[in-house]
Amino acid sequence: MTDNRPILVIASTGNVGRQIVTQLREAGYAVRAVTRNPRTADFPSDVEVTGGDLSAPSTIAACLDGVDAVFLLWPLHTGKRLAAVVDVIARRARRLVFLGTGGVPDLSFAEQEKLVHGRGTESTVIRPSTFAVNTLWWADQIRAGDVVRGAYGALRMSLIHEADIAAVAVRALTEPGHHGVTYALTGPEALTQVEQVRVIGDVLGRPLHWEELTREQARRRLLADETFPDSFVDVLLDGYADMLAGPPLVLTTTIHDITGAPARSLRQWVTDHAADFT
Ligand SMILES: NC(=O)c1ccc[n+]([C@@H]2O[C@H](COP(=O)([O-])OP(=O)(O)OC[C@H]3O[C@@H](n4cnc5c(N)ncnc54)[C@H](OP(=O)(O)O)[C@@H]3O)[C@@H](O)[C@H]2O)c1
Repeated sequence: MTDNRPILVIASTGNVGRQIVTQLREAGYAVRAVTRNPRTADFPSDVEVTGGDLSAPSTIAACLDGVDAVFLLWPLHTGKRLAAVVDVIARRARRLVFLGTGGVPDLSFAEQEKLVHGRGTESTVIRPSTFAVNTLWWADQIRAGDVVRGAYGALRMSLIHEADIAAVAVRALTEPGHHGVTYALTGPEALTQVEQVRVIGDVLGRPLHWEELTREQARRRLLADETFPDSFVDVLLDGYADMLAGPPLVLTTTIHDITGAPARSLRQWVTDHAADFT
């Protein structure tokens, strides 16, 4: 980018957004971070922090003055306002990088993709595999003992480090050559949940093991977990059942291809986040 117009990062306080803010700053770009709670966002002083709420698209419009490129993800449980938000961005910004979601029952990934690529702005869509940070859903169990209980232990996932998703997003926000493309990102390996628990135990130096629950037992456990949103319990377990019954996972080399660095392993992710399990 040749000017110093800020890059707008929506959902800047989340797992991926914070990494994007950090990596953009490190590369010398001006960053404007959007959050619903600017006073508690806790960014370095050179980050311009602004209030915005995706459920009210006019508040996003107010964040776009002088902006060059925008990073957007969709944390809401309905896709109803995605088109309005994308339209607001497309009118004001040159480029949009969107991280797609499988968590919106009323707007499929293909519909999100069509919507973002069809708005007349330079666009990139990122479709990541399962986030490694999801393993923190087991942190309470790991603090309490050496057993992780859950359903579908044989399900293979390719867990992805948020820093790798961010690295791809930063390239798409700042380099030419990513327009009109959808990038499917995975981690470097496909591990069953049983194997994931073993890796976490290895890194933490603990003899952790998996104990299989039925779907109903896992459902009751998650519903009783105050830190886990009730509305997401069936979405998650249905998603796991579908993945187990579906075609085998295909790993991609997209992270390496775009960033020049191999995708980080789960072992690396746990090493980076070991303190979060204690
Ligand atoms: N977990 C996975 O395995 C996985 C896989 C593929 C895709 N995804 C997708 O990744 C996204 C989650 O990314 P993440 O983990 O980085 O986020 P996260 O850590 O869950 O944080 C959510 C972010 O969204 C912001 N946010 C929530 N409601 C908002 C609203 N109404 N208006 C504006 N901002 C709002 C929050 O900001 P404030 O609270 O500061 O406003 C926060 O920055 C979801 O779309 C999910 O479907 C996840």
